[in-house]
Amino acid sequence: MKELRLRVGVLGATGAVGQRFVQLLAGHPWFDLAALAASERSAGRSYAEAVSWRLDVPIPVAARDLPVLPAEPGFECDIVFSALDAAVAGPIEEAFAKAGYAVLSNSRNHRMDEDVPLLVPEVNADHTALIAVQKKRRGWKGFIATNPNCSTATLTLALAPLERRFGLRSVAVTTLQAVSGAGYPGIPSLDILGNVVPFIAGEEEKIERETRKILGRRSGDTVTFHPMVVSAQTTRVPVVDGHTESVFVSLEKKADLEAVREAFRTFSGPPQQLGLPSAPAHPTVLLDEPDRPQPRLDINVERGMATLVGRVRPCELLGWKFIALGHNTIRGAAGAAILNAELLQAQGILSR
Ligand SMILES: NC(=O)c1ccc[n+]([C@@H]2O[C@H](COP(=O)([O-])OP(=O)(O)OC[C@H]3O[C@@H](n4cnc5c(N)ncnc54)[C@H](OP(=O)(O)O)[C@@H]3O)[C@@H](O)[C@H]2O)c1
Repeated sequence: MKELRLRVGVLGATGAVGQRFVQLLAGHPWFDLAALAASERSAGRSYAEAVSWRLDVPIPVAARDLPVLPAEPGFECDIVFSALDAAVAGPIEEAFAKAGYAVLSNSRNHRMDEDVPLLVPEVNADHTALIAVQKKRRGWKGFIATNPNCSTATLTLALAPLERRFGLRSVAVTTLQAVSGAGYPGIPSLDILGNVVPFIAGEEEKIERETRKILGRRSGDTVTFHPMVVSAQTTRVPVVDGHTESVFVSLEKKADLEAVREAFRTFSGPPQQLGLPSAPAHPTVLLDEPDRPQPRLDINVERGMATLVGRVRPCELLGWKFIALGHNTIRGAAGAAILNAELLQAQGILSR
């Protein structure tokens, strides 16, 4: 593995996900935070002046005085992490990839492009092979690699152990999503306090499509989507951080409760084998208490990088049911993209 330190930038550094990037990249063992960018509203000010910092730790010293740059290629970086508003992310990310940067994106814009990997490194690390296809096809010096939508990130880490051991036929999921998932300032307090909003635009379609791409099989230059049926309903709830998901699954093979629990308990993948710095020791954590996982109590287990699974039990309708929980701005966004970059560095793709 190459030990070279890489300079990294963050596009959309002032937003909810951008702030997580800044927090998680400060003191990273492989990456140095070198550039921050946002919209014209923020550009030209120092980061501390431009950002409405909302995390419960101070702004890292390494970031406070960095100038906020316009989100245009030209800054001194090897990798750019994108936490841009999806309304503008598409062409900006393409401009950076064309200019030779490795772009690790959180936004939805390129996730479903057939030559763009949609990565959850424990599940589909081999999908990084699409990067060579993308560079060749598009004639780009750089490339775009993506991580899934926050709910999908949580869901796939709960489904992959079952897929690997028993095969998946169908999945029904209802999400209870935190307000930080809507960015900052996000949803007006009068709409969400004491309430549940049973609609998040575009979210159900993202979960249904992205899950099948991530669990899909790569052969050669293409990824064939997993044939399972995925049906999602999404709701917004008055929780600050942490998406909870009520999941029902139908498996291909017969299973008993101990085998299903064992599959969750023992799941791991390339990030754990490679010892990547942001990898959780256990990407799926099984909880035994009957009233867990809960966002307020459990969201920071494994530094927010794991999916917590509880209440695993048989279901008369589809076979099995359980509750999953994941940190939406860490494993569902910034932490996911940083783990993707670590995987690409370990695979030698960033230094090519
Ligand atoms: N929040 C989550 O849990 C989550 C999870 C997974 C994925 N995502 C995705 O990650 C992205 C960021 O989400 P967020 O929740 O962090 O949103 P957010 O809080 O609204 O932040 C958006 C960021 O984009 C910047 N921006 C807006 N317009 C711009 C422009 N024209 N040029 C350059 N920069 C511009 C903003 O800069 P200014 O401050 O200067 O306006 C800000 O830094 C979205 O694509 C979202 O779908 C979010």
